Amino acid sequence: MGLERASAGTFDRRRVLALGSAAALGAALSGCRAAATVNAVLARQGLRGLGDARGVGIGAAVQAGYLARDADYAALIAREFSMVVPENDMKFGLVHPEPGRFAFGNADAIVDVARANAMQVRGHTLVWHRQVPPWVTAELGRERLLGVLGDHVAAVVGRYRGRVVAWDVVNEAIDDGGGLRASVWSRGIGPDYLEHAFRFARAADPSARLYYNDYGAEGLGRKSDEVFRLVADLKERGVPIDGVGLQMHVGLLRPPAPSPDELASNLGRLAALGLDVTVTEMDVRLAGAAGTPDQKWARQAAVYRDVLSAALAAPNVKAVLFWGATDRYSWIPGETGQPDGALPFDDQYRPKPAYRAIADALLI
Ligand code: G3I
Repeated sequence: MGLERASAGTFDRRRVLALGSAAALGAALSGCRAAATVNAVLARQGLRGLGDARGVGIGAAVQAGYLARDADYAALIAREFSMVVPENDMKFGLVHPEPGRFAFGNADAIVDVARANAMQVRGHTLVWHRQVPPWVTAELGRERLLGVLGDHVAAVVGRYRGRVVAWDVVNEAIDDGGGLRASVWSRGIGPDYLEHAFRFARAADPSARLYYNDYGAEGLGRKSDEVFRLVADLKERGVPIDGVGLQMHVGLLRPPAPSPDELASNLGRLAALGLDVTVTEMDVRLAGAAGTPDQKWARQAAVYRDVLSAALAAPNVKAVLFWGATDRYSWIPGETGQPDGALPFDDQYRPKPAYRAIADALLI
């Protein structure tokens, strides 16, 4: 694909601006989409160059540990992406492990890397049923747990006020079996924990965009209807929510990718509520699919292209993030016990067909 390898440890954003302003680049691309032009942009500015030209953020989940010890990875992230989201480093259990004690070192490191490379930061996540530290229990009772939630959100969102552009305020609150998921928050506080979380977040940083984030709610169906009803209700009652994060963890076999038509309908009904949508955690796993590795990569590329073309056609989609960048560092083997290959770069940081498919989707 002729993509130049980034030199180790290069965090200098100036060099990727060598092709000129995003507006000039956009004009050039709209007039000439020849493969050579696109390849030149990708080689020098990465996906972020195409995203900037289109006014769309392109991001990846990152981990502070990898950024610190793997210079090639750090250079890849800085070259290709205009946004980052901490894959784990802002979760409750990591930043607030004990009452009154916060551990912001890793989260700070990510925010610093982002600033050094003119990348925006998405915050993930304030309220979730996983990675909650042992001291936070439903047995604390409603009032104390509301106090814990309020203190946590004020401290974390307040620390990054003006530096985190959007927060996944509540993550995965809808149960796969239907209804509100049982969690420390729902059992300890009650169903209104969501609206309290959004209000605490708005108070801590009025300029940050506030999202509800979930998986399996991308197309149409029971779960996406439930997410829709949840956010419609929040909006109707004046709760400060700005958008919905559709995670987009999909696969060639499972979970199925949404059809472009269903995705467009879902995006449309959320837009009608006045909500933005971000594709927050996309990856496309190969597991179980038949064919040679090349055939699977080609089918994977088609999924990236089809889903992102449909998403980016919607005016309320302003950013797309992948849950990682390289197959070297992906959550999937840790969760399933099987190697996979769901991301746009292989484990040697070479772009896969999916990479060019993402570029194509940005150009459509
Ligand atoms: O850091 C510890 C390490 O010290 C310890 O030795 C090791 C032993 O298991 O665990 C390490 O922590 C792991 C952590 O990832 C960092 O790698 C946790 O066990 C592991 O549970 C955790 O998994 C994360 C998972 O969320 C649970 O929090 C994945 O990396 C992360 O990709 C995943 O991300 C979620 C999103 O937040 C929400 N949407 C779904 C997505 C995928 O599950």
